[in-house]
Amino acid sequence: MRGCPSSSVALGLLGLARCVQSCTNLIVSKGASADGSTLFSYTADSGSLYGTLGHLPAGQHKPGEKRQIWDWDTGKYLGEIDEVPYTYNVIGNLNEHGLAIGETTFGGNETLAGGEGILDYGSLIWVTLQRSRTAREAILMFDKLVSEYGYVSDGESFTIADQNEVWVLEMIGKGKFEKGAVWVAVRIPDGHVSGHANQARIQKFPLNDSSTCVYSDDVISFAEKIGLWDSKLKREDFSFADTYDPITFTGARLSDARVWSFLSKVAADRSFEKAYENYVLGHNVSAAARMPLSIEAGLKISALDLMSHMRNHYEGMALDSRGDVGAGPSASPFRVRPLEWHLGDDTYVHERSVGTPQAGWNFIVQLRSWLPPAIGGLLWFGVDDATFSVHAPLHGGATRVPHSYADGNGDALTFSRDSAFWAFNTVANFLYPRWFAAEGVMQQAHQAEERFARALEMEELIAAAKYRKDPAAAVEYLTATDNARADKIVQDEWNLFGQLMVTFRDGFHISSLGPQAPDHGGSQGGIVPKVEEVGYSSRWYERIVKDTGDHYKMPKSSSKDLEQVKLGTLKKGISGVWDGNSATWPGPLSELVV
Ligand SMILES: *[C@@H]1O[C@H](CO)[C@@H](O)[C@H](O)[C@H]1NC(C)=O
Ligand SMILES: *[C@@H]1O[C@H](CO)[C@@H](O)[C@H](O)[C@H]1NC(C)=O
Ligand SMILES: *[C@@H]1O[C@H](CO)[C@@H](O)[C@H](O)[C@H]1NC(C)=O
Repeated sequence: MRGCPSSSVALGLLGLARCVQSCTNLIVSKGASADGSTLFSYTADSGSLYGTLGHLPAGQHKPGEKRQIWDWDTGKYLGEIDEVPYTYNVIGNLNEHGLAIGETTFGGNETLAGGEGILDYGSLIWVTLQRSRTAREAILMFDKLVSEYGYVSDGESFTIADQNEVWVLEMIGKGKFEKGAVWVAVRIPDGHVSGHANQARIQKFPLNDSSTCVYSDDVISFAEKIGLWDSKLKREDFSFADTYDPITFTGARLSDARVWSFLSKVAADRSFEKAYENYVLGHNVSAAARMPLSIEAGLKISALDLMSHMRNHYEGMALDSRGDVGAGPSASPFRVRPLEWHLGDDTYVHERSVGTPQAGWNFIVQLRSWLPPAIGGLLWFGVDDATFSVHAPLHGGATRVPHSYADGNGDALTFSRDSAFWAFNTVANFLYPRWFAAEGVMQQAHQAEERFARALEMEELIAAAKYRKDPAAAVEYLTATDNARADKIVQDEWNLFGQLMVTFRDGFHISSLGPQAPDHGGSQGGIVPKVEEVGYSSRWYERIVKDTGDHYKMPKSSSKDLEQVKLGTLKKGISGVWDGNSATWPGPLSELVV
């Protein structure tokens, strides 16, 4: 779960490169969700991250006990802080009280990174989850911890949510100037949706309404001290983002554009997508052109919907990249990195979408106020690219992690056949260059998640009934049920990979000839399948001809009949060209998900 190549760490010290997460959070307030829960999604996108589900069991601590802190990104030991008498159970980024915290790194002003102290942003999240019950408590805990122990990371946007409220807190360190950090936290209004993706989003904020906005005392005066703000200006006009993380082309095109891809789909204002198209394309990156922190939702959004929004690659939008040569013959949004590339004097970029290959893990939290907190907090956890994740529901009180998702089962250098990360990576890597099969796999993942949501209805009724008499028994019941389901998801994923391999090996589409299919009498390989060629689109053939002229051209003079006979011989075992009809893929679900 931790890790940053040591070379990057070394480069980081030299100031040449920073090893940070590059992530996305999509946020739905209680009033905008279909069932009155608070929802947000998080994808932890770092090429060096091996996706496991972390677990910090609840604990009692003696006076004088210390908690050790390792930097989440670099794995470096940072020091120790005082323990508290009691710490809460934390599974992933959710605790037993239904508090959840996510983040995306915005970086921000380069002089404010690398402060002195013990707390990096990852540890700040997990220590806070161990010590707080509500979003407001968590915000105060953030402030207390960074004031006391210092903050060593660069700029971060955090999502802090409980069953009733969701806040976006943006924080940046004070570099070598001072210990600690400056920050602003804004509550997302009920009925609104929001998000952040590696670009600070809080511009102006209310200075005198602590029910919707709180901030560090020195968020403006510190900017003034280091020359980023002029005290003659009106304090009301102070913008956190424009001061500490000014907008750039990549901030709009590669970062805020991901937030736009979600907000455009759910905005009450149907002109939202068009209104910010120019901005996300990077054609107008002025502060005035930026999207508001949150907008009113036009429809009620469920946890399952949010899973679909995490599968977004700008399909049908101005940033859809499936149509150009980089998409390959299967019109894939997948691009080999780097994100930026050079030709002559110019620099270009590839799009950066919410669904992304380098994700280590991702989740949706669904926080429900009408259930006991240990049951009401639900973590839908997935590994690797959210595009193909099948999210396993796990409850905040859970006392164990499923084996397939646990630390120690494989790692970034060790392939493991019962690790979720390797199962999902295997399928995803098969699909990136065969995007024609991707839609079916996404649909199937969604159908599995729908089934889990239906199963949970009954399981949670049982758990809530148990809870009244014996909370520990209720939690044990859910832990056992959730873990068994999660391990089953990984088995199903390997079965799916087998099915994909059988169906799409070697550039073919391979299916059954039906019950009457010949089978060599059971010897010589047995069954004879229907083998069709996948081929390329005519657009792709045009490209090949454009590149090669007559190089592959058959002379018109040759005898059509003789050529056909010869081609027939060359096509041994093949019955024709696949029509690409998605009805033939995926196969019957019963075959795929056992
Ligand atoms: C970053 O902050 C310093 C002050 O510490 C300022 O001089 C510099 O212009 C800022 N950089 C950017 C890119 O705004
Ligand atoms: C906060 O200040 C603004 C502008 O100065 C004012 O319009 C608003 O009424 C104030 N709000 C509260 C809650 O005091
Ligand atoms: C950029 O957007 C802002 C805000 O919408 C607008 O006022 C400005 O004219 C735009 N600039 C350009 C060059 O389009």
